[in-house]
Amino acid sequence: MKHIFLFLFFFFLKCIGILAQAPAPAPGPPPPLNVTKILEKAGQCSTFIRLLQNTQQLNEITSQLNNSNNGITMFVPTDNAFLNMKAGTLNSFTDQQKAELIQFHILPTYYSLTQFQTASNPLRTQAGGTSNREFPINITTIGSSVNITTGIVNASVSNTIYTDNQLAIYQVDNVLLPLKFFVPPAPAPAPTPITPKKKAGSSGSSAKQDDASSATSLFQEMYKGGVFLFFFSAASFWSL
Ligand SMILES: *[C@@H]1O[C@H](CO)[C@@H](O)[C@H](O)[C@H]1NC(C)=O
Ligand SMILES: *[C@@H]1O[C@H](CO)[C@@H](O)[C@H](O)[C@H]1NC(C)=O
Ligand SMILES: *[C@@H]1O[C@H](CO)[C@@H](O)[C@H](O)[C@H]1NC(C)=O
Ligand SMILES: *[C@@H]1O[C@H](CO)[C@@H](O)[C@H](O)[C@H]1NC(C)=O
Ligand SMILES: *[C@@H]1O[C@H](CO)[C@@H](O)[C@H](O)[C@H]1NC(C)=O
Repeated sequence: MKHIFLFLFFFFLKCIGILAQAPAPAPGPPPPLNVTKILEKAGQCSTFIRLLQNTQQLNEITSQLNNSNNGITMFVPTDNAFLNMKAGTLNSFTDQQKAELIQFHILPTYYSLTQFQTASNPLRTQAGGTSNREFPINITTIGSSVNITTGIVNASVSNTIYTDNQLAIYQVDNVLLPLKFFVPPAPAPAPTPITPKKKAGSSGSSAKQDDASSATSLFQEMYKGGVFLFFFSAASFWSL
């Protein structure tokens, strides 16, 4: 009997121990960040959230955060910033341009506010090329105050919405518009001039003229041939 009580007593203690341990967090990788949730919580971001979703860029960000060690920086314009654009600007963009616009607000590298101080301009965005007719952005800083220029628009970082060492989300007071959308593309490179062929007596300066002149000379040959044939026939006739 005594043994049974002892057994039950220890069994009881053991149960309490298990119960006490039960709430310990399950090991494993942390769940992926929900960018939508972070932006919803910040407020004033609903236009950007809608564009992120409609352009499929949300999936891009999620998978990039999961697969790259460089992290991501996002500049998120407020709803007011979208409203302050010239009327009809957003609607004038094609679907492709809307996707590029969102990519233009995303850097494929994590930057803390102080890391911007040593960033070298122009910075590369997810939208691609940094040439003067593409998607460059320049950053200027005074302490932890950060301004952005795209060549079309100036903006300031007004708030830090989220930051860890992988993802930084900053609120900006203007929609960043890329040069690519407003600057005419570089004139198509002039067709390389065809160097005149150094044919004796030929001063033709293009293939077309060469063709034309050879057609002309062929005609001249035929014509001369015809004339010759005519005189030959005439001569034959008269000699009869
Ligand atoms: C992220 O959060 C949003 C809104 O809070 C929710 O609708 C969505 O299902 C969440 N996505 C994931 C993958 O959990
Ligand atoms: C994250 O990446 C790992 C492998 O790199 C993959 O197994 C996992 O499914 C990915 N998770 C998400 C949410 O993409
Ligand atoms: C950012 O721009 C504002 C005006 O647009 C200016 O007052 C401020 O000094 C600038 N800050 C930096 C860091 O360039
Ligand atoms: C950005 O910075 C680069 C390098 O300093 C400069 O050549 C370029 O003109 C700048 N562009 C703008 C729009 O400020
Ligand atoms: C942006 O700011 C620079 C000086 O910081 C100024 O020269 C330029 O005109 C501004 N551009 C726009 C579009 O406001």
